[in-house]
Amino acid sequence: MKLILILTVGFAVQACPQEHHFRRHDRHIQQRLRDSNVFPPALDRNEKILIDSINASSLSIWSEYYTHRRNVAGEDDTVPKWTAKQWEDHGFSSRLDGYYVFLNYPVHRSLQLNHVNGSTYQPTLEEGVLDIDKTTTDHDRVPAYHGYSFSGNASAEYVYVGRGQRVDFDRLKSLGVTLEGKIALAKYGGPYRGIKVKNAQDYGMVGAVIFTDPGDDRNMTEAKGFAAYPDGPARNPTSIQRGSVTLITTYPGDPTTPGFPSKEDSPRMEKKTVPIIPSLPISWIEVQPLLQALNGHGISAEMVNRSNWVGAIPDVSYSTGPTPGATLSMSNIMESRNAWIWNTIGIINGTNEDEVVIVGNHHDAWMIGGAADPHSGSTILIELAKAFGKLLKTGWKPKRTIILASWDAEEYGLVGSTEWVEEYVPWLKDSVVSYLNIDVGVSGSIPDFSATPDLHSLTTSIAKKVIWPDGKDRTLYDIWEEKSGDIDPLGAQSDYTAFLHRGGIAAIDLGTTRAPYDPIYHTHSNYDSYYWMSTYADPGFVIHKAIGQYLTLMLYHLVDDDSIPLEPANYGPEMRAYLEELEQIISSSNATANLDLSTLKDAISSFEESAQQFNTLRASAILTNPDLLTELNHKARDFSRGFISQGGLPDRPFYQHLIFAPGVDTGYAPVTFPGITEAVTAGNLTLASEFIEKTTKAIIVAAAILKA
Ligand SMILES: *[C@@H]1O[C@H](CO)[C@@H](O)[C@H](O)[C@H]1NC(C)=O
Ligand SMILES: *[C@@H]1O[C@H](CO)[C@@H](O)[C@H](O)[C@H]1NC(C)=O
Ligand SMILES: *[C@@H]1O[C@H](CO)[C@@H](O)[C@H](O)[C@H]1NC(C)=O
Ligand SMILES: *[C@@H]1O[C@H](CO)[C@@H](O)[C@H](O)[C@H]1NC(C)=O
Ligand SMILES: *[C@@H]1O[C@H](CO)[C@@H](O)[C@H](O)[C@H]1NC(C)=O
Ligand SMILES: *[C@@H]1O[C@H](CO)[C@@H](O)[C@H](O)[C@H]1NC(C)=O
Ligand SMILES: *[C@@H]1O[C@H](CO)[C@@H](O)[C@H](O)[C@H]1NC(C)=O
Ligand SMILES: *[C@@H]1O[C@H](CO)[C@@H](O)[C@H](O)[C@H]1NC(C)=O
Ligand SMILES: [Zn+2]
Repeated sequence: MKLILILTVGFAVQACPQEHHFRRHDRHIQQRLRDSNVFPPALDRNEKILIDSINASSLSIWSEYYTHRRNVAGEDDTVPKWTAKQWEDHGFSSRLDGYYVFLNYPVHRSLQLNHVNGSTYQPTLEEGVLDIDKTTTDHDRVPAYHGYSFSGNASAEYVYVGRGQRVDFDRLKSLGVTLEGKIALAKYGGPYRGIKVKNAQDYGMVGAVIFTDPGDDRNMTEAKGFAAYPDGPARNPTSIQRGSVTLITTYPGDPTTPGFPSKEDSPRMEKKTVPIIPSLPISWIEVQPLLQALNGHGISAEMVNRSNWVGAIPDVSYSTGPTPGATLSMSNIMESRNAWIWNTIGIINGTNEDEVVIVGNHHDAWMIGGAADPHSGSTILIELAKAFGKLLKTGWKPKRTIILASWDAEEYGLVGSTEWVEEYVPWLKDSVVSYLNIDVGVSGSIPDFSATPDLHSLTTSIAKKVIWPDGKDRTLYDIWEEKSGDIDPLGAQSDYTAFLHRGGIAAIDLGTTRAPYDPIYHTHSNYDSYYWMSTYADPGFVIHKAIGQYLTLMLYHLVDDDSIPLEPANYGPEMRAYLEELEQIISSSNATANLDLSTLKDAISSFEESAQQFNTLRASAILTNPDLLTELNHKARDFSRGFISQGGLPDRPFYQHLIFAPGVDTGYAPVTFPGITEAVTAGNLTLASEFIEKTTKAIIVAAAILKA
């Protein structure tokens, strides 16, 4: 799950079609953290043992195992057991933690377009079978469906709704397009797919069909002369994006047990976060006739006048429709059941039992394959375990406990990790120093980091220790600084979500992303396969190796350094940048001029002061006072718990972090100062003031934890 870097805050003003784009400008911070970058990187003995242990051929072998079997959540425990065995071979004590969770599976899917003249068209709703890519031919392959989708039929006229954000629906309403009782035809991209379905439902629509559009592939298309997969790097026209449609922005995890772990005998609540209208995913080649049947009907794309409205499907004008008398009949019959899911947990005890570092990834996948999502991460975790096994054999012991986690049912809605956090949250809040997440570890050639500010320094310093495999005598830092240079805040794209937003735990999500001319990564498609990875995305698994070395060294420093390498002070300039963005949002939203942000500003100043004192004290303690250092290490571990507010955000008690949250209308993508920002966006000044006060208090609590 990964894509959106641009936060789009849509103002739900009826007659106003424009969007406001905010790009995070973290570059000033990276400049501040930049210091000499030597080549080849200087490594100490232990770092060298770890780096030398990561082996590209082994990574390819693990990938081959993981990508050649079906592992949809709740079906079987072969993969988590096998993973436990690999970790045990390298000295980790491993176990499976099971949860008994609500899931659903496809029984029957069909779609029919009924033209006005009575002729019909029935898409297959399947991806093409490619002989050269063996796993796409497997008779047991996973159908293309939406996890947690509503079981039912719908038959109605239909309307193209763009990316399916609230601003899209508001725009259509203001143009007089009838939405009630119609089926939504929405484009992937922008907000998380579950939000598209929820919005369609909220605007009275009775079903949703979500399609991939090659317009989002920019220049890497057949139209621009690139051959399509498997003959080339462009998108295969039949590729379909599977995925969950539960409302993770309100609550991730098992929708029947919000707030507590799913045990066999747990009470079950009414499901509030799953849709009540059916939805289906479809490829661009098969949605083309549906869009063509809307050409010239309803409102034209020019009149709608929204950015990204027009895609690149040939002979389609992206008119809204409906076309009177042209209907869709959709059927999405799902079977619900409670089933066991299995998290693999591997542990090496540290000498300090109350200091723990967790590294996690998920193992369930939407297809036989998943070479990028999730198994570029799974393979790296095995090599990481092997590297630490080698270090342990030299007599080294970690100061802090290492926990490896391979989560189940991430794809359905971060279920395995969320249930686990809900079970252990008091202990996690007491002991976890950081949670490191690797999900889509490799999907392109640009290193990609999202992290809490206290991990920014470590993120950049480790990048200078890893050689980038392009043969140009460069480090991972150099390529990252050239192509990106940003560290984004965290939304809700993967299993770090419960650790950060529920636990207030420092977290990073890392991997690589596509450069404009990298091969298309077919998200949640059968073509995210071993053949694709080894032929196009990472031949020789050399990017896997670099990212594996990076994650291994980051973990090593977090568990071995005398002084925990977290930098609380980095929250200072970050919060100032978020404040600036908030001020912009307030000034561009009408009538909110009398919101007083002065207490919030003062709180940030006092946080900065505490962080400064903390740094001074820590610098002296490192040299002279081990007992004080232990105390300061615990402060670095704990201060961010202060950002957690009991009761959480409005209507979403799970999301308790007051500095970041996934946006209610963006899904994966984060908003900063979410309580305030979203109240302003919704035009509720009372609520905005309330959250200015809560956020101010939270920052003061964090500052107090940091203070001596
Ligand atoms: C890397 O792994 C491969 C496959 O397991 C093995 O044949 C090779 O010896 C390993 N290389 C090193 C340097 O350990
Ligand atoms: C009915 O209309 C569709 C769409 O315009 C067209 O493709 C099809 O050929 C028509 N069928 C008949 C029988 O006219
Ligand atoms: C895409 O191609 C156009 C020319 O066709 C060029 O102007 C543009 O810069 C290209 N975009 C990227 C990201 O390379
Ligand atoms: C489209 O919207 C922009 C920004 O709101 C506006 O400047 C422009 O005139 C609009 N174009 C049309 C054709 O309405
Ligand atoms: C739903 O639609 C399918 C396919 O048209 C049909 O077989 C099935 O009977 C329908 N179910 C209901 C409950 O209408
Ligand atoms: C690790 O520590 C825990 C808690 O003290 C203990 O229960 C467990 O047996 C230890 N495991 C190993 C392998 O030493
Ligand atoms: C802002 O408020 C003024 C006066 O209350 C109103 O006329 C205007 O339409 C509002 N603008 C927007 C974008 O809501
Ligand atoms: C604004 O938020 C308050 C809670 O602070 C709530 O009671 C009120 O109903 C909200 N107003 C609107 C218009 O939603
Ligand atoms: Zn994933």
